[in-house]
Amino acid sequence: MSAKIALLPGDGIGPEVVAEARAVLETVGQLFGQTFEFTSHLIGGCAIDAHGDPLPAETLEVCRKADAILLGAVGGPKWDDPTAKTRPEVGLLKIRKELGLYANLRPIKPSPSLIDSSPLKRHIIEGTDILFFRELTGGLYFGKSGLEKTETGETAFNTMIYSTHEVERIVRMACQAAMKRRKKVTSVDKANVLEASRLWRRVAERIVKTEFPEIQYDVVLVDAMAMHLISKPAAFDVVVTENMFGDILTDEGSMLPGSLGLLPSASLGEPGPGLYEPIHGSAPDIAGKGVANPLATILAAAMLLRHSLNLEKPAAAIEDAVEAVLKAGHRTKDIAAAGEKSIGTKEMGKLVLERLKA
Ligand code: IPM
Ligand code: MG
Repeated sequence: MSAKIALLPGDGIGPEVVAEARAVLETVGQLFGQTFEFTSHLIGGCAIDAHGDPLPAETLEVCRKADAILLGAVGGPKWDDPTAKTRPEVGLLKIRKELGLYANLRPIKPSPSLIDSSPLKRHIIEGTDILFFRELTGGLYFGKSGLEKTETGETAFNTMIYSTHEVERIVRMACQAAMKRRKKVTSVDKANVLEASRLWRRVAERIVKTEFPEIQYDVVLVDAMAMHLISKPAAFDVVVTENMFGDILTDEGSMLPGSLGLLPSASLGEPGPGLYEPIHGSAPDIAGKGVANPLATILAAAMLLRHSLNLEKPAAAIEDAVEAVLKAGHRTKDIAAAGEKSIGTKEMGKLVLERLKA
């Protein structure tokens, strides 16, 4: 049986990194006797240019029927005008919402070969293995918002909104993952200030206590979490949090492995299918230069095989190949030490392919 994979390269470095991940999927398919059928579609700024819409109907339809989706990145200065009718990011938020992808899994596990590439000290990073569950279709990103003229100028607002079932399902999914790991869950909120967080905290505690009594559970305020994440990252196992808190904390967390260019993510939910992407953006400053790190997208492809196609062995083979390439000392610019030689996007992709075949 052949699995349908919808590719959404998007903007900036998106097409460059998706091309490498696609080649890795093709190779791993040959090695493990799987066939993948790829189609490529527009999302983000390039879709605005072509159709005036960051998520054209055709893209959404194909994605609904696919077995999994691999996305690069959206956005760039060309579409940044704050008065524009629409924005590339709207396409990404809409596809997440339309496919019901409420859980965004962002693993943060620094490669042993890269510990010294992190701006943080070795003794702080060692032992770090965190799995973030960022709520992805609610909260501050999707609450009521608006812009009004007032006597003195304008007023703009966004609202953070959560309902019981939204908290229940993400916390449940986080706990299920924790049961297969170190059975520890940390829920991050701002319950000392926000009503939405107080609901989040009550519901989270009920789910953990009634459905997962074995789990060691604690709650941390988001400001304190920002601090703990870089002072004692090894203390955490599964972390579950609101949409925007998760957005911010995972960019911060990417400094543990040393670069945004290393972190993959999986967005799961109902009806799906799952969407996989690097957590980095379109990096317009380096787009088209062939220097972007493709590893985050290649690792996202591994997550795709594992979570959407139930292909654990090929997924692990990709992860092992990436680790071996890093261990052999190959570095893209973002993870090279000062003065160290760096290689480009294509070369890095090729090394992973060679390693897979070896
Ligand atoms: C991410 C990105 C997106 C987000 C942007 C591009 C809309 O930062 O996936 O983390 O904020 O969710
Ligand atoms: Mg982000």
